[in-house]
Amino acid sequence: MIAYMAQSWVSIKRINKFLNSEEIDPNNVTTHPSEYALSISNGTFTWGGEHVTLKNINLKVKKGNLTAVVGSVGSGKTSLISALLGEMEKLNGEVNIDGRAAYVPQQAWIQNATLMDNILFGKAFDKQLYNQVIDACALRADLAMLPGGDQTEIGEKGINLSGGQKQRVALARAVYSESDIYLFDDPLSAVDSHVGKHIFDNVIGETGMLKGKTKLLVTHAVVYLPKVDEIYVVINGEITESGSYK
Ligand code: UTP
Ligand code: MG
Repeated sequence: MIAYMAQSWVSIKRINKFLNSEEIDPNNVTTHPSEYALSISNGTFTWGGEHVTLKNINLKVKKGNLTAVVGSVGSGKTSLISALLGEMEKLNGEVNIDGRAAYVPQQAWIQNATLMDNILFGKAFDKQLYNQVIDACALRADLAMLPGGDQTEIGEKGINLSGGQKQRVALARAVYSESDIYLFDDPLSAVDSHVGKHIFDNVIGETGMLKGKTKLLVTHAVVYLPKVDEIYVVINGEITESGSYK
């Protein structure tokens, strides 16, 4: 039982990362005060073995900026986020994070708990914030359809949500955490374009709830690129270009 709990805690920690500076391995990631919320200088990273996944990575994300990361399948976008979280083996370079980070993984993950508890994730209930998050993450209509509303048990032992619903719950959990830094790994991939636009406008974009927070957005949705501060292009484990949309 203890082993099982330890195991599930590890996976919760890995997948739903809400990072405090104490949790970061100081060998991989420093947490010094900086004008940049996120930075990697001359970073080279591997998942183990001979293969170097990310090479010569230089990335700086100013506090409060929205930065997009684009690139084809398997180019290293998720690895880049993992490197920032200290989860890859660092062969060279420096990584610094200044602030508490929330991570929305590419594969949204749901706990066996009520929908509400999946969003609160141990944080105290704040009615106003909670309702704002539900609306911004386009979950209101889903709540109305679930038999017990936000008290419905979801996850493996409860009602199985669709991929898009899971993604919106995972997003809501991150937004509700009120972190300083948000690492979004393709959070709009399973929602339709109308819902995607609602979430971009109400959460991620400059009119959204996370206005003023630092956001790194891995995305395939080019439609949002004109609305971000900076774009990084990843090809085959290297950043080949960065700059504004223009
Ligand atoms: P990524 O998973 O970083 O690529 O894999 P990506 O850009 O995010 O791809 P999509 O768009 O989501 O599909 C880059 C390399 O790192 C390896 C992969 O096998 C791939 O060769 N990798 C990734 C691992 O070895 N372990 C991991 O946990 C993740
Ligand atoms: Mg990926």
